[in-house]
Amino acid sequence: MKKFYLTTPIYYINDIPHIGHTCTTVAADIIARLHRKTGEEVFFLTGTDEHGQKVAEVAEKEGLSPKDYCDKISPRFSETWKVLNISYDFFIRTTDQRHEKVVGELLQKIYDKGDVYKAKYEGWYCIGCEKFLTETDLVDGHCPLHSAEKTVKKSEENWFFKLSKYIPQIIKLIENNTSNYIFPESKKSEVLAKLKAGINDISLSRENVSWGIPLPWDKNQTVYVWFDALINYYSATQFLENKKEFWPADLHILGKEILWFHTVIWQAMLLSAEIKLPVKTYIHSFYMIDGQKMSKSLGNVISPSQLIDLFGVDGTRYLVARSFPTENDADVGIDRFKEKYNADLANNLGNLVSRVCKLGEGLKINNQEVIIDNKYKILINNLKFDEAIGWVFENYIDKSNNRLNEVTPWKLEINDPKRIEILTECAQNLKIAATYLESIMPETSKKILDQLDKEIKGLESGLFPRIK
Ligand code: MSP
Repeated sequence: MKKFYLTTPIYYINDIPHIGHTCTTVAADIIARLHRKTGEEVFFLTGTDEHGQKVAEVAEKEGLSPKDYCDKISPRFSETWKVLNISYDFFIRTTDQRHEKVVGELLQKIYDKGDVYKAKYEGWYCIGCEKFLTETDLVDGHCPLHSAEKTVKKSEENWFFKLSKYIPQIIKLIENNTSNYIFPESKKSEVLAKLKAGINDISLSRENVSWGIPLPWDKNQTVYVWFDALINYYSATQFLENKKEFWPADLHILGKEILWFHTVIWQAMLLSAEIKLPVKTYIHSFYMIDGQKMSKSLGNVISPSQLIDLFGVDGTRYLVARSFPTENDADVGIDRFKEKYNADLANNLGNLVSRVCKLGEGLKINNQEVIIDNKYKILINNLKFDEAIGWVFENYIDKSNNRLNEVTPWKLEINDPKRIEILTECAQNLKIAATYLESIMPETSKKILDQLDKEIKGLESGLFPRIK
């Protein structure tokens, strides 16, 4: 059986899940489900990133020890994903001792290779990003992604990783199209340009952050949270029984703000430790909320539970997929979601299901298995969910509703062959559509397919009530 290993970023737990985390996780789930459906053995990993200064600070504010704080917040993520029907195979926490052990081993390999040295570092650090900023990163003297007080001056002795040593090799990998590991294309050029501008080494440890994994060769320092976090993708495959053969990962999915860590630093760490490189990294853009950056201070954060309350689990998954910020930032908002939900699900798909099931009750339909077209698989694998769903609607759902409007079977006698023919044809199209949409709306698709199993069954209530 072909194996397929995919990951989401592991989310920081200084915050609870929002629509940004939801979008990446739903995207990964859609891909995982499609790969399982087409017969592959899938390992789908997600989790929480729990060490570092940022988490330690939030825990302190809440009057909890960092570990107690993590134990309290991490389930907010795993439980949200369960409600959203996310079919992850394992939920990793970086405070898991098994992960910590692999981190120590991998860093030791880098150390043994001679790729580590001690040096003093002085510079601006953004606690929000958990990274040092260069002068060119600063906007108005602070990190553009976080508030001014998150940018602090730091001066400490750290252990450094010889990132620069691996840059020529990474440039070659990116330029050599057989590897092709950065998607989409635009991100590849962005990374290349930055690599060619010259890269400094990066510190891999922290002197004054106690909430972290101690360095194996210097217990006075902890592993820099990003080195710890990136290793999760590898460590899960090492400490879990029967998952070893899933490495290297086939697909890392992540947002654009953490592209550098994944496409450069992570690759260099693996090259140094002589571990195989992940096959493909897919970088998506961001959700904007009604034209603005989503932020707590603007009070415009959309939570997954807000969406689930309004649109149900499958409605939420659908809306996220339809608005997914593949290459460009996508503007979303509750009102627009409502419109889309009503137009696509209540009026279009929902209406087709009601019409077919009410008018066609009892009609036999053929039981042939629906084979998923390669074109659809390619679109999904490239995170082009809107296009993929659009294709299904156009070819099977809109088409059927239009045909029903033309033929008006409700005006024909019950035994009229024309009525039987059109309803059977629409039921068949609906069956195809539901099979395609299964990875996006698993429960709804299953309901539709059950309605159409061997014969059309009557429907007691509609699938998608209109929302005001
Ligand atoms: N902990 C690090 C990742 C370590 S991975 C080895 C981290 N965590 S995070 O909680 O900040 O999550 C970042 C990810 O959440 C983004 O890369 C993206 O996948 C998702 N999103 C967060 N905000 C988003 C939007 N506004 N829009 C879309 N996705 C966004 O970074």
